[in-house]
Amino acid sequence: MTIRTPRLVLRPVRPEDDLPAMHRIMRQPRAMAYWSTPPHANEDETREWLANMADIPAALGEDFIVELEDRVIGKAGFYRFPDLGYLFDPDVWGQGLAREAVEAVVARGFAVHRLPRVQADVDPRNKASIRLLERLGFVETHRQARTWLVGEEWCDSVYFALTPEAWDQRTA
Ligand SMILES: CC(C)(COP(=O)(O)OP(=O)(O)OC[C@H]1O[C@@H](n2cnc3c(N)ncnc32)[C@H](O)[C@@H]1OP(=O)(O)O)[C@@H](O)C(=O)NCCC(=O)NCCS
Repeated sequence: MTIRTPRLVLRPVRPEDDLPAMHRIMRQPRAMAYWSTPPHANEDETREWLANMADIPAALGEDFIVELEDRVIGKAGFYRFPDLGYLFDPDVWGQGLAREAVEAVVARGFAVHRLPRVQADVDPRNKASIRLLERLGFVETHRQARTWLVGEEWCDSVYFALTPEAWDQRTA
């Protein structure tokens, strides 16, 4: 399944082809500052991560590699419904591309997969991610301390959710 937005192509992962570009993103401390794991130390870590993405059972999730002008710039989708996840190359941050991609997968989540809600688990320090979700109409539901042990550091979570009703109102 391929999704096209005004600037982007979202398509299924091709693990070997996507390895160099995704590793270049996932080895960067800046890109991984609020991820659930430390930056990838070597290509094998990214290879395993891509293999997991390729193995998502269609009934349980749907995740996409995102391309801008034939270049891989990140990923967006549901590793498991209804949990949203996205990660983009710092070189392209701040142009609304993440928002464009996330908007497309959320729209598909509601329209095609008929999800009763979409949710996200964000590090409270991740201002860009929180802003992106709020701009799409997500609302904070609750917070929890010490949810992820990333390397040696415990990180907290703020949870966001969006219902199809709120989404329809926003796009009406
Ligand atoms: C979160 C992430 C996808 C946002 O990417 P981005 O390219 O900055 O996103 P966009 O350009 O679509 O901008 C999203 C909004 O955040 C705002 N924003 C960007 N950086 C910000 C910052 N450091 N502080 C506050 N707001 C910020 C933008 O201005 C924009 O708001 P606007 O629509 O009101 O202008 C990107 O930072 C990323 O990939 N981070 C690493 C992975 C990650 O943390 N994923 C989320 C896990 S929950």
